[in-house]
Amino acid sequence: MEEKLNNIKREIETKINEADSLQKIEEIRVEAFGKKSLLANISKEMGSLSVEEKPKVGKMVNEVRQALEAMFQAKKMELEEKALELAMKSSKKYDMTLPINGETGSLHPITMVQRELEDIFKSMGFTVEDGSEVETEYNNFEAVNVPKYHPARDMQDTYWLENGELLKTQTSAAQNKIMKKYGAPLKAIFPGRCFRNEELDASHENTFFQLEGMMIDEDISVANLIYFMKNMLSEVFKKDLEVRLRPGFFPFVEPGFELDVSCMYCGGKGCKVCKQGGWIELCPCGLIHPKVLEMGGIDPEKYTGFAFGLGLSRLAMMKYGINDLRILNSGDLRYLKQLGNK
Ligand code: DAH
Repeated sequence: MEEKLNNIKREIETKINEADSLQKIEEIRVEAFGKKSLLANISKEMGSLSVEEKPKVGKMVNEVRQALEAMFQAKKMELEEKALELAMKSSKKYDMTLPINGETGSLHPITMVQRELEDIFKSMGFTVEDGSEVETEYNNFEAVNVPKYHPARDMQDTYWLENGELLKTQTSAAQNKIMKKYGAPLKAIFPGRCFRNEELDASHENTFFQLEGMMIDEDISVANLIYFMKNMLSEVFKKDLEVRLRPGFFPFVEPGFELDVSCMYCGGKGCKVCKQGGWIELCPCGLIHPKVLEMGGIDPEKYTGFAFGLGLSRLAMMKYGINDLRILNSGDLRYLKQLGNK
């Protein structure tokens, strides 16, 4: 039996060594291990062996099988590499003489801040939702209480698509969908990229990132809003931050506020980023307007909620001491590399 096994092994080894294509090696594999293979026959023959011999031969069969499988794998890899090399040589798309640049990438500062915020909010029981970049007019405006011809639309110079849809101007565009998806109570954040036809300067870009949040439940008040915002910001900047609320108007909240943070870049003295004011307008927020709740299918008599629209780009600037918003979208690796390593 042992000799027979060794013969089979040798025979298969020779075939493997001689195989010159992936197809061939697959054929040999089936021949060697398939149901009608020589190895399978030996396993069948084992039935007639004595009780003492059976485990010995069984072990040998297994060893041969393992050795052959390793050989198959090695040969397969070798053939795959050869096939790839051949494909690359015959294709004009690859230039084998190009030097290989071993540099690795790093996360964009906005991605880093976004991930950090997601972790903080998740730890406070919020879910993280996704929103589309192309939105309907209804979701972006009407569902957040900005009907056609409302003057609030003037603040968001919109990129319209030919089919009547638009590039979302605000993450608030996802509020309605999320309310309809979950109903109340609800705690969710939804980060996203927004677009507006802005006059560009150090703190305005036509493409920017926001992170919106909503909490809806019975008896939610401004106190809940302040608590979550202050906790979150202190967590992000690893210190107790100064914040202030000013009244602000947004059609989808009542009352509405502007939440400001003392400028992290100049420490409040006044600079280009904070336009010499010492404060940075970071986060408009407020208590969700009853009409918005209603349009989202939530009973405003029973539930109240807060919402906020955090400027992620602005937050990233403060966190990493960037004094010009345009750097973030510039793709200038000299900046982004330094930031990515922080
Ligand atoms: N969507 C507003 C904007 O981009 C920001 C905003 C304001 C969001 C107040 C909110 C909010 O959720 O409550 O200008």
